[in-house]
Amino acid sequence: MAKERKNIQRGCWSSNQGFILAAAGSAVGLGTIWKFPGKAYTGGGGIFCLLYLLVTLLLGLVLMLGEFAVGRAAQKNCVAAFRHLRKGWAWVGFLGVFSSLIVMLYYAEVGGWVLAYVIAYLREPELVFADPSAYFAELTGQGEGFPWEGALLFPLIFMLLTAFVLSGGVRGGIEKFNALAMPLLLLFLFVLAFATLSLPGAEEGLRFLFSVDFSKLNASTLLSALGQCFFSLSLGMSVMVTYGSYLSSGENLLRSVWAITGLDTLVAFLSAAIVVPAVFATPQISMGEGGSFTFTALATVFSGMPGGVYAGLLFYILLFFAALTSSVSLMEAIVSFLSEEWGLPRRLAIRSSTALIFLLGMAYTLSYGGSAAALPLRFFWFDSGGVYPVSLAEFIELLADRLAIPLAALASCLFVGWVWGTDSACREIRQQGKFSFSWAGLWSFLIKYLAPPAIACILLGGLFFGLSLS
Ligand code: PHE
Repeated sequence: MAKERKNIQRGCWSSNQGFILAAAGSAVGLGTIWKFPGKAYTGGGGIFCLLYLLVTLLLGLVLMLGEFAVGRAAQKNCVAAFRHLRKGWAWVGFLGVFSSLIVMLYYAEVGGWVLAYVIAYLREPELVFADPSAYFAELTGQGEGFPWEGALLFPLIFMLLTAFVLSGGVRGGIEKFNALAMPLLLLFLFVLAFATLSLPGAEEGLRFLFSVDFSKLNASTLLSALGQCFFSLSLGMSVMVTYGSYLSSGENLLRSVWAITGLDTLVAFLSAAIVVPAVFATPQISMGEGGSFTFTALATVFSGMPGGVYAGLLFYILLFFAALTSSVSLMEAIVSFLSEEWGLPRRLAIRSSTALIFLLGMAYTLSYGGSAAALPLRFFWFDSGGVYPVSLAEFIELLADRLAIPLAALASCLFVGWVWGTDSACREIRQQGKFSFSWAGLWSFLIKYLAPPAIACILLGGLFFGLSLS
């Protein structure tokens, strides 16, 4: 009873389905819809997709199960959860909160740009279509003058919406919003896939995407698939630990993990099946990874297709929902930490973290590309070739992708496999035999012996060979 009351006080999901949708909402985000298609294209199409499936099954699923087990066993925010399970390990949670904060800096900005594109496709699609690159440059401040909309207005609205969802609490805000957004997102995705796949020339793109050419197999494609899988499944940043902490012991973790991973992978593949064939069907563009591609090249695709304005609008609304549900999860990790560890009232925790991220995030847009309003700040990064100067925006991305996220993922995987231990984790998953876990032995092996060296390779590959990971 006492535990029950405590749960209600700190929030808990009302149903397992609500939890699955919320966690899938966290997973399906800009990484899944925006980055996956570009990576699949540059990674050789079918071979990348195959590797992605493989690492998702062998590692993504495995670590997600571990993170949920940690969260549910502790029933606490991510910092307190690690500390509660093993004294002296709170730093793993800190690393997670830090990574979430860094990722939020660009998530808030790019989420704002996506919103700007929703409005642009509603208000002035002809301007976007006339010169896609110029439109994007203007929005993000690479043209003349201060980018009021790209750096200020839209990221602010995006953050206020995130804060609004969070202020409804776990059940009334996060769960309710995801229960609405996720089915809508899936519906839009299917409609769009239907529209782009019926373009003449699209089959060639589809064939490229799903035919496997083993001669394109190499270490960098493998690491890229691995990094993409972890980011796309929201792993290593304590977000899934936080979401798992709102679960009750009556839920079957294993089944949920399959459902969440399945949904995220479905969305990733559908997004690739929308974007890659559409690009193949539009001869005047070639595909690039992430970056401005989603905003510029896709405008060329949409402008050349019948009903393209509506397809474009649908695409950006979909991307907007995806970004918002992920940003809510990243912020929940930060907010629950601030309110439970530092004792801030939840409302104050939401307001202060929203303000902080909005202000710091603005610096991302102001240093993105060669902005006229660029901040005169110099940052540096390094790889095996030595130290080189980067902009603040690049620094934020590099810090997150190459250092903070892989480090946090490595720490949490070592924690589950070796510190808390797979026996404790399996006990948590089984709940005194309530749920069967027949591949516990395989799971323990994977999280102890396969996941740590694989993540260490991501870390080393990113730091020394400059591989892009998310
Ligand atoms: N999974 C999200 C995406 O694909 C990003 C994310 C990472 C969200 C980590 C929460 C935690 O965009």
